[in-house]
Amino acid sequence: MKFTLFFINVLFTLHSITIYSLPFVVFHGISDKCSNGGITHFTELLSNWSGSSGHCIEIGNGEWDSWFMPFPKQIDIACQKLKKMSELSEGYNIIGLSQGNMVGRGVIEFCDDGPPVRNLISLAGPHAGIASIPLCGSGIWCILEDSLLKLAIYSNFIQAHLAPAGYIKIPTDIANYRKGCKFLPVLNNEVHRNSTYKKRFASLENLVLIMFEKDEILVPKQTSWFGYYPDGSFSTVLPAQKDIS
Ligand SMILES: *[C@@H]1O[C@H](CO)[C@@H](O)[C@H](O)[C@H]1NC(C)=O
Ligand SMILES: *[C@@H]1O[C@H](CO)[C@@H](O)[C@H](O)[C@H]1NC(C)=O
Repeated sequence: MKFTLFFINVLFTLHSITIYSLPFVVFHGISDKCSNGGITHFTELLSNWSGSSGHCIEIGNGEWDSWFMPFPKQIDIACQKLKKMSELSEGYNIIGLSQGNMVGRGVIEFCDDGPPVRNLISLAGPHAGIASIPLCGSGIWCILEDSLLKLAIYSNFIQAHLAPAGYIKIPTDIANYRKGCKFLPVLNNEVHRNSTYKKRFASLENLVLIMFEKDEILVPKQTSWFGYYPDGSFSTVLPAQKDIS
């Protein structure tokens, strides 16, 4: 697997990677849906550039379910849809937009007998977790550890009803994160390591991780590159471990 990091120049990057002319699928971000103009335009533009067919994969009704349907269920729906798309059977690429990367990586790791994923192109994916409520921002009220802790993010109820709770990683509450967070620790093989997940993720031909330098949604922005705060503090962000899966 080639591990490529780009600061930006997204357009150039996508242009050169998608030349494969394999079909691609897009997973949109939170509060979005495939039928929104921005996503339709993005998918069509990529298709035009690459000469490949592109599909935005919708999960449930899009906007609402992106907030409230837990990821294992979102991924299962995506997996079932992808298996029915015969045009993907020879392989395809995934373009993940923000939270859509959680679904995309979930498909790569958990979708048994799904069509093979060749490349993952991730735009601003919260791969190593986030320490803020999505769309809240990086203001003091959004990342204040006390307010996050009070929200009982790792309770069974919140985990089952609020999708982003599956990838909120409060650096000062790691024990509860490992115990209570139902999604990201599994996806990132942080607790019970599963070699099948690792093998599937490592089978990608290219992993392209794009971080937005001015990202104010993802806290910290380096999570797009698997960077994160050290356990126990909100201090300096550490770069990705070599062994990420
Ligand atoms: C894609 O190409 C078609 C056909 O040339 C064109 O009509 C359409 O406007 C293009 N879409 C975008 C988003 O550029
Ligand atoms: C790992 O994941 C695979 C695929 O979902 C599953 O069949 C297997 O039982 C898991 N192994 C462990 C040790 O959990």
